[in-house]
Amino acid sequence: MKHERLGPVIAVANQKGGVGKTTTSINLAASLATLDRRVLLIDLDPQGNTTTGLGIEKHQVDKGVYEVLMGDCALADALYDTPCEGLSLIPASMDLAGAEVELVTAEGREQRLSGAFEAYDLQPYDYVFIDCPPALNLLTINALAAIDRVVITLQTEFYAMEGLTQLMDTIRLIRGRLNPELVVDGIVLTMVDHRNNLSVQVEQEVREYFGSQVYEHVIPRNVKLSEAPSFGLPVMHYDVSCKGAQAYLAVANEMLEREHFHRRTL
Ligand SMILES: Nc1ncnc2c1ncn2[C@@H]1O[C@H](COP(=O)(O)OP(=O)(O)OP(=O)(O)O)[C@@H](O)[C@H]1O
Ligand SMILES: [Mg+2]
Repeated sequence: MKHERLGPVIAVANQKGGVGKTTTSINLAASLATLDRRVLLIDLDPQGNTTTGLGIEKHQVDKGVYEVLMGDCALADALYDTPCEGLSLIPASMDLAGAEVELVTAEGREQRLSGAFEAYDLQPYDYVFIDCPPALNLLTINALAAIDRVVITLQTEFYAMEGLTQLMDTIRLIRGRLNPELVVDGIVLTMVDHRNNLSVQVEQEVREYFGSQVYEHVIPRNVKLSEAPSFGLPVMHYDVSCKGAQAYLAVANEMLEREHFHRRTL
């Protein structure tokens, strides 16, 4: 049976490593849960940083997104509670590292996740987020084939826009072949430092190039954001008053305000 769903499914993606995808996935999802939305977060990265960042040990996960992709378990059986009320997690297990190779020969290898979504009623959720690995591999393709929108995180540094063309090309390809409704939700700038000229300059360039696709609120460089995962907590449960927590809450509010806007594409 194909299920309808209510809220958008959003992947946080950029094949560039270390640009704030996981930090954004956890804290944007947790912010929306704090704002009384019901949120599901899926850790599609074999590194499992979203999983450990929410206090769940990867080696203790026996049912996670790997089992869902392989058809060994339904989405409903891979749900974990998180420290954040209203936020559920489908974690990465140790086995996810092998999924890329195993998927190559699997039937419908690009649409395993969308198939799992269709078989499960996502209606209880206002938002579903997927944290993608830093690669344009079969896992990321499974995400892009299954979602409504992509949030791209960009670190404001010299090579910020490197690789973006390839990401946009991949999105267009998936739109043409597998998921005609796929759109870019927007770009979230991360690790912004307004005292650093280069960071300011890169922010200006990205805004000139991508215009209103870029979220007005940015995520500053904030040490609390890097500390919170070691306590297994989203930043707003670690220190709600810190700049990082306030910035993610602001981006979440902006996302709620922009709901009508997301259909525009890059
Ligand atoms: N705004 C920030 N301020 C300070 N540190 C940050 C911020 N955002 C992310 N970090 C830190 O930078 C590192 C990379 O961030 P993160 O893991 O979110 O990136 P990623 O894109 O998910 O990386 P990967 O590509 O490896 O999955 C982490 O150590 C994280 O704690
Ligand atoms: Mg990550």
